[in-house]
Amino acid sequence: MRASFTAQGSATTDCDDRVLASVFGAYTVSATFWLLFATAVGVLMAYKFGAPDFWPGQWLTFGRLRPIHTNDTFYGWASLALVGIAYYVVARSSRTPLYSAKLAWIGLALFNLAAVAGTIALDLGYNDGDLEYREWPWPIRLIFLAALVVTAWNLLVTVARRTTKDIYLSNWYILGGVLWTCIIAVVAILPWYQHGLGQVAVSGFYMHNAVGMWFTPLALGIFYYALPKLLNRPIYSYALGVFAFWTNLVFYPIIGSHHFLFSPLPWFLQTTAIVFSVAMLVPVWGGSANFLLTMRGRMQEMAHSFPLMFIFVGVIGYLVGSTQGTFEAFRSLQEVWHLTNFTVGHSHLTMYGFVTFAIWGGVYALLPLATGKEPSRLGLGLHFWTALVGSFIYVISLSVGGTVQGLDWIRGLPFIQSVADMQSYWVWRGVGGSLMLLSHLVFAWNVWRMTYGRGQSPRDDSAAADGAAP
Ligand code: HEM
Ligand code: HEM
Repeated sequence: MRASFTAQGSATTDCDDRVLASVFGAYTVSATFWLLFATAVGVLMAYKFGAPDFWPGQWLTFGRLRPIHTNDTFYGWASLALVGIAYYVVARSSRTPLYSAKLAWIGLALFNLAAVAGTIALDLGYNDGDLEYREWPWPIRLIFLAALVVTAWNLLVTVARRTTKDIYLSNWYILGGVLWTCIIAVVAILPWYQHGLGQVAVSGFYMHNAVGMWFTPLALGIFYYALPKLLNRPIYSYALGVFAFWTNLVFYPIIGSHHFLFSPLPWFLQTTAIVFSVAMLVPVWGGSANFLLTMRGRMQEMAHSFPLMFIFVGVIGYLVGSTQGTFEAFRSLQEVWHLTNFTVGHSHLTMYGFVTFAIWGGVYALLPLATGKEPSRLGLGLHFWTALVGSFIYVISLSVGGTVQGLDWIRGLPFIQSVADMQSYWVWRGVGGSLMLLSHLVFAWNVWRMTYGRGQSPRDDSAAADGAAP
């Protein structure tokens, strides 16, 4: 039986490798389904801004479609895709087989069950209130929590059984993210302190930690593994990566109240959130510098490597989107941007420009190593450029439009004037969104080629196969 990593003294057998590849592939395929579904809903919603009476049936009203879009992009697409990559990264960098394939399949079934049940419930009008990103009725959120716990345990024991001396940097981020998210998901379910202002504070805590302590650390963990693999050189500074990890962990959990500036929440709490939103520049700039310095001098290689281009865009999305977030947290700028479409632009700059591009970079860099099948260069190019141009149009149109909208409100113009002023920006958002959806269809085709279809044989640049990450 062929064994990998024998030079390092540990062995994963062919059978272990096949199991890992099938888990990674199945999570990616499931996630891709949710990406297609949730963003088709997103495009439909985008056009409803111009034509609100288009498909007016109660199951297709904006109020029902919006939480379907946000929950399915969060918990169907991004979560499943990140967990699939995390399984691969954790097992490979620990030079050990995945602890339990059975638990991985159970987790996949539970994640999908929660997403299907949540989508049906929301479309039938069963919505657990006004708390963003936790609109699924609570029994369904319990299913999601069970999936998380199973996943956390599987990842944790895999790292505990590592044959390497140290825990590789990616695994700090992945384990930190998954453990912290179990806590957040429990906090979100416990009912007794969630009344009045307590509910508002918990909502800010939940919302911001969902993006900051779940998607962010997992996506950063992917960067720390995929970049050294693709470039065949170690990460610029391991110490800086550890420093960014701990500062991220200290600062992120206390910034949630910046979603509710000028609300009746205590003023000191709002000010604390603003101060720590500024402190977030430390891990964000530290982490981004680490990635960019790892790429330094190798930019010309990007032209030949779409996985690297996806990761580069993801790093820039992280840097620009998070820095933008710090500015958004200032009271003077919140006065203009709060409740406007500028925030929707920020959400997509970060969740799409950062997290989604990071996932694509990770999938394209690592899935071919697992399955031995590559997508075509045409497929990669089509995906990259349509997604990049589409999301650029999306984010720019809403950032400019949202500013116009906020200034209209400050000038005291009739509300309907701000709606009229937004029309052209919403049309452009629809155009950008259509290109993004097109890119997702191409991605689905590429995923098919890398998993169950007939992909090209693996790339022969052995840098990718045997890079500087463990
Ligand atoms: C680390 C620096 C960041 C800071 C200081 C920050 C700040 C902010 C602020 C102030 C808002 C509220 C805007 C408003 O309601 O007017 C916001 C919203 C949002 N941010 Fe960030 N952000 C950061 C990074 C990120 C990242 C990395 C992500 C995604 C991975 C993200 C995702 C979101 C989302 C989805 C919303 C919309 C929440 C809602 O539905 O109201 N942010 N951010
Ligand atoms: C074809 C691509 C996409 C389109 C056309 C699209 C469209 C939309 C629309 C129309 C909204 C409602 C905005 C509003 O209430 O004013 C929205 C909200 C949102 N979408 Fe998307 N979306 C897309 C992809 C994604 C992806 C991939 C993610 C996450 C990975 C995502 C995350 C979100 C979030 C977090 C919100 C709430 C924003 C906020 O409250 O600030 N979207 N999207």
